[in-house]
Amino acid sequence: MATHFYTASSLDGFIATADHSLEWLLSQDFDQDGPMAYPAFVEGIGALAMGASTYEWLLRAQGEEPWPYTQPTWVFTHRELAVPSGADVRFVQGEVSDAHAAMRLAAGGDDIWVVGGGDLAGQFADAGLLDEVWIQFAPVTLGAGAPLFPRALEFELLDVARNRGFLCGHYRVVG
Ligand SMILES: NC(=O)c1ccc[n+]([C@@H]2O[C@H](COP(=O)([O-])OP(=O)(O)OC[C@H]3O[C@@H](n4cnc5c(N)ncnc54)[C@H](OP(=O)(O)O)[C@@H]3O)[C@@H](O)[C@H]2O)c1
Repeated sequence: MATHFYTASSLDGFIATADHSLEWLLSQDFDQDGPMAYPAFVEGIGALAMGASTYEWLLRAQGEEPWPYTQPTWVFTHRELAVPSGADVRFVQGEVSDAHAAMRLAAGGDDIWVVGGGDLAGQFADAGLLDEVWIQFAPVTLGAGAPLFPRALEFELLDVARNRGFLCGHYRVVG
């Protein structure tokens, strides 16, 4: 059972623009059956964690579409946010270690996915609870935006692949 941060990034280390747009990413071509693609990754995931901005982006992006995850999702926020019908969403705040224990139980032996943002993934790393990081680097720079991983950490490169225009890295968090 491992905890992963799996995300796409610009080449200069941003996962969204400053106004939380992902147009720069969604306009790219990515082979969903290719190396390090999302469908194979998410098969092993039993619980999700995300911050409030990521959750709000998802709600906007889904519109009237149904909630995309069957797994329970922990949303870190200090606010009261809407929950789409049929979604298993649990709002939490404070130390990520408390939520992580509950996520482990709910995941039932499957892995945990920290969807984002980068600082939330960093909070899991600070607590020694982040095992692996997967980054798909899009052939784009943004100049500014939501940071990929605002921490000083070391990683071991486990695997690298090309998926269309993306450079994909799979890392183990060393410390
Ligand atoms: N490129 C990709 O593949 C990818 C992947 C994931 C996300 N994204 C995008 O990247 C952006 C990330 O936004 P972001 O950097 O603002 O990060 P975020 O983690 O999505 O949201 C940050 C917010 O989460 C809440 N939060 C974080 N830690 C908390 C804690 N321990 N307890 C309580 N609340 C906590 C706070 O919100 P409040 O205090 O306001 O409640 C904080 O302002 C979003 O636009 C998202 O859509 C991109």
